[in-house]
Amino acid sequence: MSAPSEVPKVNKAVSNGYGPPAEPFPLPDNADILTQNAIKYMSFAGDPRTRFIFQNLTRHLHQFVKETDITTEEWMTAIQFLTATGQKCTSLRQEFILLSDVFGVSALVDAINNPNVGSATESSVLGPFFTEDANDVPFGESIASEGKGEYMLVQGRILNTAGEPIPDATIETWETDDLGFYDTQYTDRQGPDCRGRLKSDAEGRYQYRAVVPVSYPIPGDGPVGTLLELVHRHNNRPSHLHMMVEKKGYHKLVTALYPEGDPYLTSDTVYGVKKSLVVKLTKIESDEEARKHGFKKGPFTLLTHDYVLLTDDEAREARKKVTEANLLKEAEFQKLIS
Ligand SMILES: [Fe+2]
Repeated sequence: MSAPSEVPKVNKAVSNGYGPPAEPFPLPDNADILTQNAIKYMSFAGDPRTRFIFQNLTRHLHQFVKETDITTEEWMTAIQFLTATGQKCTSLRQEFILLSDVFGVSALVDAINNPNVGSATESSVLGPFFTEDANDVPFGESIASEGKGEYMLVQGRILNTAGEPIPDATIETWETDDLGFYDTQYTDRQGPDCRGRLKSDAEGRYQYRAVVPVSYPIPGDGPVGTLLELVHRHNNRPSHLHMMVEKKGYHKLVTALYPEGDPYLTSDTVYGVKKSLVVKLTKIESDEEARKHGFKKGPFTLLTHDYVLLTDDEAREARKKVTEANLLKEAEFQKLIS
């Protein structure tokens, strides 16, 4: 007699442990009840901030669907688009950041979190091309290897809002070469190029050699590129030089400078340009001047710019004011979701 065959053990599907609401919700027989229920489900979150964000997100999502009277096919298209956006992401490619950028959401989050304060340098979007591996570049030396573009000398000071120099600040800077590519976009990248890490000196001064940045298209071979084509939008960014300045006790500044005259200044695909960040470049023809600053020969372009940092306290105070002006008060919010 053969042995009875083993009955395969089947694990029962296990739920996450939460039960139904103590007070049953009404059945969602119409769209309004459905929305109310969906918002109410989010009210169970223990953390007040989590609760507020998800209830508000649900409210806006439902409102969007209703106001646009979206069709089933359109909603499936949206889901397929978001799926493709996620699938395009790799460790070197962040298509979701790009999506946030072209909707102006990255710039909006930046504007809210880094409000403009008096003489302080305004922020701009970080973008997807910052890397941690920039070389330390001594005062006056070059961040770009020879042949990467037209010579540019970049100089200025790092100051506080009282106009006093900030010595020993760390400055990270990165830019495109004259073909409109960052070093990370080359598959045969040997190491960092057109990027560097510097320190301000005892008088708060910094100086380095670079190349004149050029305007460039953001990657157009993914879902975000398709979206821009769908709405007939160009995918260019005006030429710019990225800067990130840090010093203990000061609010980290992430910004960029945009040379004037670029045709894409007023239509930056990622909304990074602010008036105070548009700078004038000066052409210096003299060979002698060029050699004095370490270039092989003239001409070169001069970019002089001072950066003004907020202290941590000044930044916190400014952020608080924005919160007070923007944030829905609890009573108003309850009215909106009831
Ligand atoms: Fe950039």
